[in-house]
Amino acid sequence: MDRQEISALAHADHPVAAPLAEGAVDRLLAAAIRRRDARLLDLGCGAGAWLLRALRAHPEATAVGVDVSGPSLGRARAAAAAAGVAERIELCQQDVTAFRPDRPADVVLCVGAAHAFGELLAVLDAARGHLAPDGAVVLGDAFWEQEPDPVVRADLEDGPQRYADLATTVARVAEHGWTPVYGHVSTLAEWDEYEWCWTGSLARWALDHPDHPDREQVLGVSAEHRAGWLGGYRGVLGFVTLVLRRQ
Ligand SMILES: C[S@@+](CC[C@H](N)C(=O)[O-])C[C@H]1O[C@@H](n2cnc3c(N)ncnc32)[C@H](O)[C@@H]1O
Repeated sequence: MDRQEISALAHADHPVAAPLAEGAVDRLLAAAIRRRDARLLDLGCGAGAWLLRALRAHPEATAVGVDVSGPSLGRARAAAAAAGVAERIELCQQDVTAFRPDRPADVVLCVGAAHAFGELLAVLDAARGHLAPDGAVVLGDAFWEQEPDPVVRADLEDGPQRYADLATTVARVAEHGWTPVYGHVSTLAEWDEYEWCWTGSLARWALDHPDHPDREQVLGVSAEHRAGWLGGYRGVLGFVTLVLRRQ
């Protein structure tokens, strides 16, 4: 099973592919969407959970989702059809850094996908080019709740991205020309729910498919992730989602 299939399976039981409960997702969307006919763009949309929630709540809104993952976009397509919103959503299988929208969006989302741009401020630079003048960005990313031990830091900063504490993370965004108009800091309970769903849906799939050739691999990924979470970053890695407007 490849990484994208594992990720699709791991996120099957959670409302979005990030540690946020449904109420928080709805409050963030409500703070960002200011027009009935809003046009939304989600960079790294995964299975489209944010966009589908927005389209269900706003019958005149339209949406574009961009992601490299074929399995995730397949789930987004099926969910859009089941929710009766398929004609209002366009799904593009593409690298977000190469995506060029044909017209500006009222809301640009990038939640849990900043690594695709290399780092947080690069998301905002891309969003600036995609956003209508009075539009809003919904930006969700990790930060350090506590100073991590060096092994945890090396594990989680294995790409170009470096995390900071919450105050520094928000200050960097503000210094880059963006004003937070709302935000949500994920609670430990939201993290725990997310991680139990992540590891549990993989484990359940493996136990339900005893003869599948990928069973051991999937069980192994679940166990390794659970150990890394419980023995490493639980309570150390935070997640903040900001609604931002340009200064
Ligand atoms: C943690 S998931 C978040 C999905 C979604 N934003 C949500 O909150 O439900 C990160 C997503 O970013 C996508 N992604 C990573 N790198 C990407 C890239 N370079 N271009 C497009 N999508 C990318 C992954 O395929 C994955 O679906």
